[in-house]
Amino acid sequence: MNIIKAKTYEELSAKAAVIIGAKILSKPSCVLGFATGGTPVGTYAELVRMYKEGVLDWSGVATYNLDEYYGNPVTDKNSYYYFMQQNLFKYVNIKQENTHLPNGMAKDAEEECARYEAAINAAGGIDLQLLGIGHNGHIGFNEPADAFAEITNHVKLTDSTINANSRYYANRDEVPKSALSMGIGTIMRARKILLLISGKDKAEIAQKALYGPVTPRVPASILQYHKHCTVILAVD
Ligand code: PGA
Repeated sequence: MNIIKAKTYEELSAKAAVIIGAKILSKPSCVLGFATGGTPVGTYAELVRMYKEGVLDWSGVATYNLDEYYGNPVTDKNSYYYFMQQNLFKYVNIKQENTHLPNGMAKDAEEECARYEAAINAAGGIDLQLLGIGHNGHIGFNEPADAFAEITNHVKLTDSTINANSRYYANRDEVPKSALSMGIGTIMRARKILLLISGKDKAEIAQKALYGPVTPRVPASILQYHKHCTVILAVD
């Protein structure tokens, strides 16, 4: 793992955007794996700035997001579809048809997971996957479990994740209880991974994930086995 320490959230975001921007410049038709949550917001803002300054051209880029809530319409302000539109897609020249998230409104969740996994493979796999990390070590919605999930799957969210996500809702009962998420295998097949860890409250899980034993109880710990994983840390 290549671990980069940043002093501030702004520095973390700028560094992450440079790495993603460099991928777009070196491979204009790259396939990027994107993440939602509080952590990547600053990175997306930097990427928008680079686009506005004429540094980046998104016209050939394709994106696959890690996950989406299940049973939540995309028009809902808390859908990850909506998040990506508001934080990145509507501000850059990416083609809408090249942006992908699991369809959280699909009738058959299992069928949708299989379709999404096949679409990633048909696109040639992910060149660079951006990740955040949950307080319990989850990546995407791969929650602590007895085994690593291999492919995109329908997951039941843990109490820890429902509690963390309830900050976006009027009350905890409104938080969706399940999601469609890339599996650990899907994430590990990305050719390059960029993990962002920000905030003092993430220092403990960062220590476990980066330096502790590799275990499905701390899903992010598997990234220790990825050949091209860069971590940007701002946890002091
Ligand atoms: P956060 O979420 O960036 O909002 O802390 C990260 C995650 O749960 O993956």
